[in-house]
Amino acid sequence: MRKVLLITAALATIPASVMAADLQEVVDARRGFYAILGANMGVLALMARGETEYDGAVAQTHADNLKLLTAYSMGHLYAPGTSNADMPGKTRALPKIWEDFAGVQEKGMAYVQAVENLTEVAGLDRAELGGAVQRLGGACKDCHDNYRARDF
Ligand code: HEC
Repeated sequence: MRKVLLITAALATIPASVMAADLQEVVDARRGFYAILGANMGVLALMARGETEYDGAVAQTHADNLKLLTAYSMGHLYAPGTSNADMPGKTRALPKIWEDFAGVQEKGMAYVQAVENLTEVAGLDRAELGGAVQRLGGACKDCHDNYRARDF
């Protein structure tokens, strides 16, 4: 929250044209961040479903990647003025995010706990991985269902 307020203050001094470019950069970075989550999750989901062979070391690597990203400070990726109402067609982030940071944070905490659980069991066997991936997928979906638009 504090970071978001600092960003607001910083943006207030930037001319409108530059600001528009910066906000596009924020949206690109935000979507890129989530695309990386998706790419790691994709490998794990294929393995969990048995569509690729289970490999504990590979599963652990992707679980650890997700864990690493839970330490990333997301505040700047949610700069004000970057909802799908502000930038139609560019993002699916719903305005509700900016009206309900506490709710987003709650979904984020459930997500972090699911990642934590994943890192503990991903390397054990396919069944353990499967359970953890399912729980994590539920945490991703719970946030998407509430804070991400279905379409652009
Ligand atoms: C706390 C909320 C939240 C959680 C948890 C979350 N996401 Fe998202 N995700 C979003 C929002 C908001 C967007 C829309 C971003 C945008 O369009 O600017 C998004 C977008 C995405 C996208 C689309 C990126 C693009 O190219 O536009 C993918 C893929 C994705 N998330 C995957 C995941 C996966 C996989 C997980 C769990 C491992 C996850 N997300 C967890 C909120 C969340």
